[in-house]
Amino acid sequence: MWQISVHVRELSHATHWPSAIDGMDHRHTSARMERALIIGASGGIGSALAEHLKSDGVTVDGLSRSVDGLDVTDEASVQSSLGALDGPYDLVVVATGALVVDGHHPEKSVRHVTAQGLADQFAVNAMGPMMLLKHGMRLLPKDRPAVFAVLSARVGSIGDNQLGGWHSYRAAKAALNQLMHGAAIELGRTHKHATLVCLHPGTVATDFTARYAAHHKTVPATEAADNLLRVIGGLTPDKSGGFFDYAGQEIPW
Ligand SMILES: NC(=O)c1ccc[n+]([C@@H]2O[C@H](COP(=O)([O-])OP(=O)(O)OC[C@H]3O[C@@H](n4cnc5c(N)ncnc54)[C@H](OP(=O)(O)O)[C@@H]3O)[C@@H](O)[C@H]2O)c1
Repeated sequence: MWQISVHVRELSHATHWPSAIDGMDHRHTSARMERALIIGASGGIGSALAEHLKSDGVTVDGLSRSVDGLDVTDEASVQSSLGALDGPYDLVVVATGALVVDGHHPEKSVRHVTAQGLADQFAVNAMGPMMLLKHGMRLLPKDRPAVFAVLSARVGSIGDNQLGGWHSYRAAKAALNQLMHGAAIELGRTHKHATLVCLHPGTVATDFTARYAAHHKTVPATEAADNLLRVIGGLTPDKSGGFFDYAGQEIPW
């Protein structure tokens, strides 16, 4: 685990809201964010989030598979990595995920779906974040606002799916959304000021999309991090359990 400690100041990106979250009581943005945990800090978006927070004066802890040996598909690994941390964190972001696991690429057709490919997708994109929440909830404060944000994907929206394909990844992210939605209800009982959300970061130029984004407009990871932190900064507990994009717009389930 690496840690960057710098002096604390208020987040600077909480000035205006171009989104459905406009008009909300920005309690979280006005609070001082002192400590954040980025899980998946080695990834394109995770590392950009960590750098952005660091430049905002937040003390950032990062956890990742390549640096710390955290494997989100192994509950014992999750338990041991998170068990070594002391909270509370004002912000926890789960930025882990994979589109291709063990050579299983996103399927263009039902004919390409395999049981193993489905299982692998669920393990990394749905069960992994759920285990991180299970063992990470204790790191959130109970007496003040905090956000636990999980990177999902718009393609996990059932209501928004007009194209088909990418069956396993879509289904795993849909399962992730359901798991977080249900968990948010429970979290609200013990952590009344906490907000648990699924966020779509946009189509971001990272290793994740390198092979698939050729025909899509991408944004740099730094821009995605800026957008996500703006959305996170405007969240309040009444939005807990929601699914929002990088502009703060609610995405249909
Ligand atoms: N990029 C996009 O356009 C886009 C769009 C929609 C949603 N998302 C979501 O955003 C998240 C991050 O994407 P990204 O673009 O930043 O991807 P990335 O650059 O490929 O980073 C993926 C991260 O996940 C980690 N990871 C993968 N499998 C893991 C495992 N079994 N255990 C622990 N860590 C694991 C990687 O760890 P190591 O590198 O250390 O192995 C890395 O930190 C993903 O959930 C993705 O679904 C991305």
